[in-house]
Amino acid sequence: MKPGMSLMRHYLQFKDFRAEEYAYLFERVATIKRRFKNYEKYQPLVDRTLAMIFEKASTRTRVSFEAGMYQMGGSVVHLTTGDSQLGRAEPLEDSARVISRMVDLVMIRTFEQTKIERFAAHSRVPVINGLTNEYHPCQILADIYTYIEQRGTSARGVIDPDCLKGKVVAWVGDGNNMANTWLQAAEILGFTVHVSTPSGYEVDAKVAGINNSDCYKVFKDPMEACRGADLVTTDVWTSMGYEAENETRRKAFADWCVDAEMMALARPDALFMHCLPAHRGEEVSAEVIDGPQSVVWDEAENRMHVQKALMEYLLLGRIG
Ligand code: CP
Ligand code: NVA
Repeated sequence: MKPGMSLMRHYLQFKDFRAEEYAYLFERVATIKRRFKNYEKYQPLVDRTLAMIFEKASTRTRVSFEAGMYQMGGSVVHLTTGDSQLGRAEPLEDSARVISRMVDLVMIRTFEQTKIERFAAHSRVPVINGLTNEYHPCQILADIYTYIEQRGTSARGVIDPDCLKGKVVAWVGDGNNMANTWLQAAEILGFTVHVSTPSGYEVDAKVAGINNSDCYKVFKDPMEACRGADLVTTDVWTSMGYEAENETRRKAFADWCVDAEMMALARPDALFMHCLPAHRGEEVSAEVIDGPQSVVWDEAENRMHVQKALMEYLLLGRIG
């Protein structure tokens, strides 16, 4: 651990941070993004190195972490299962011990959450979850920041980090890593998730890791889940690692496509989000994802800004 870092924190699930930490982080994201847009150099992470370990494919997560780390003056090392000893059965614990002696921060995208927890337990440096089967906290961080930017920012650029409080987010689709993370966020930040999944693909409060079942409501009919929602969001029918279920899922999810009819039931100013990659004509119609309520491109870009604030926080603590 580098001098100046008192208490090491990991970011393995959304609930690893408290509401007031999120309020702080969202303010930092706004500042960091504004500086970036103004071409102001901000390099607090000179000489710091991020190791990124990918056991699953990625476009956004890789580019956003890598570009973000370079912008902050640091550097990155990119590892995959196939091109490292991770794919040749070196114990995860040993990999964690070795990698964390050489870098300052580790981001991992893998399968079971237990794998990232085992890595973190043997790491000398903070570990960030870049997606597991159970959670995708960096994505929800970006999604919530995007909501704040769109619906909780004054004309002078002052943000209201609490603007999702009391609002309704409709989740249409699989009870997957994204759905679980939305539930954790709802519990911490005080909004409600209307969840509609096909039968057999429900969210499980235990897996989602929530204590308060008041933060979500289950709807059989996806149209009803969208009624009155402030934000409608969905994800692929088949997540990475579940490809063998592709055909079964295609049939089961046929009615869980976010289309214009569904969006019409949400509030007139409702936003549409999707973590991407998207399949037009499956979980979302082209009309919706390419339409005026969709903020998916800002959502993708914001991955980089929120992760810069997250890395700054994990490595340097609160600024100022
Ligand atoms: N949304 C997201 O995590 O995208 P990638 O799989 O491209 O990283
Ligand atoms: N639920 C999807 C998200 C991809 C970013 C998956 O896990 O594949």
